[in-house]
Amino acid sequence: MRTVDLIQRKRNGEELSPEEITWLVDSYTRGEIPDYQISAFLMAVYFQSMTDLEVGAMVESMIASGERMDLSAIPGPKVDKHSTGGVGDKTSLISAPLAAAAGVKVPMISGRALGHTGGTLDKLESIPGFRTNLSTDEFKEVLDKVGYAVVGQSDTLTPADGKLYALRDATATVESIALIAASIMSKKLAMGLDGLVLDVKVGSGAFMKRQVDARKLAQLMTTIARRAGLRAQALITDMTQPLGYAIGNALEIMEVSQTLQFSGPEDLTRISLELAARMIYLGKVAATLEEARDIAAAKLRDGSGYQKLKETIAAQGGNPQVLDRFDLLPNASGALEINSPRGGYISAIDAEEIGLASSMIGAGRDTKEDSIDPAVGVILEVKTGQKIEAGAVLCRLYFTNEDRLAEAAERVEDAFRISTSAPEPRELILEVVS
Ligand code: URA
Repeated sequence: MRTVDLIQRKRNGEELSPEEITWLVDSYTRGEIPDYQISAFLMAVYFQSMTDLEVGAMVESMIASGERMDLSAIPGPKVDKHSTGGVGDKTSLISAPLAAAAGVKVPMISGRALGHTGGTLDKLESIPGFRTNLSTDEFKEVLDKVGYAVVGQSDTLTPADGKLYALRDATATVESIALIAASIMSKKLAMGLDGLVLDVKVGSGAFMKRQVDARKLAQLMTTIARRAGLRAQALITDMTQPLGYAIGNALEIMEVSQTLQFSGPEDLTRISLELAARMIYLGKVAATLEEARDIAAAKLRDGSGYQKLKETIAAQGGNPQVLDRFDLLPNASGALEINSPRGGYISAIDAEEIGLASSMIGAGRDTKEDSIDPAVGVILEVKTGQKIEAGAVLCRLYFTNEDRLAEAAERVEDAFRISTSAPEPRELILEVVS
């Protein structure tokens, strides 16, 4: 097989055979195909997409690039939750401990901040001592003992996804339905789960900007799951404005703590509870979704989700006290207030712009090699629909150096739209696909 022929055929919109897809993924993972050729292939996929057969072959070959995790010795239903990526999206850190407190085992494989979106691993690593690079045995031990364990993709878990994802990020080929589905589902199927809840984000802060594309992505992922014998449901949720008020790693851990103590933002609490309920339902801890919702709400109210997150933090080497004492988390050295030039209603807060501004001051990375500043980010003071006076504080930028602060502040100012009339309220949970 010649790589150039496969690139050309994909570029022309032809379907490649499972053997051809497998050969490409295997050869690239072994370092036998250069980045420039796979980049061209990914761009061809971005424009031509892939058939279900091709995506299936890609998922299988990405799983086979590493080991399948065998969790059969650990008692209890194994259910994970995965978001396609958003701004201020810290739902994993709320829904997973709630589900674990209800008796679900949550073996979570998470990602890092990329582009304007945040990553669960970076958020957790803002906790002093927290380790996301557990060995397989350590991971299983935490899962068995605590019920919720988190790791990243690694040299043993879908290494092909690690290489391909980094390349996609650098070649503007992330936003492909076929590639996102293959990337997420290869990681999830490698974990040997019983159930999976997907949160497919749609709107300016998501990779899918249109609901029709989010639906296609949700359908493709739930189909792949079903074929592999995995119970799966996908929620399509709004990402036109950031979720909650906090954007940035340590800032988001603080908001997670508040939410698990029943004093978090309404939108974040609602989505997290619904995701947790569906994890509990798919894990068959509850016979109906209604019952699962009651259990999730009870685990929030009685503080057991909050305690569960503390247990996971401690088991993975972190200091659980950070959830009570925010001064133990990395803190920014300065805050810049952004004020509204006029009064009116907040008609939109562009999540992508806020995410990019936050990334620009150090909360995210431009390239995979960049390091993160865990202390920095943005705290919104208002949400869409709110009425404000001229001069009101829209948000604060928390920074540790002023390198790109002015540029970020300009972006943030432009992210807020103010109108004279109240906007139509937007649904938070738009659709369920199963
Ligand atoms: N999250 C993933 O794990 N992969 C993607 O391609 C996009 C979001």
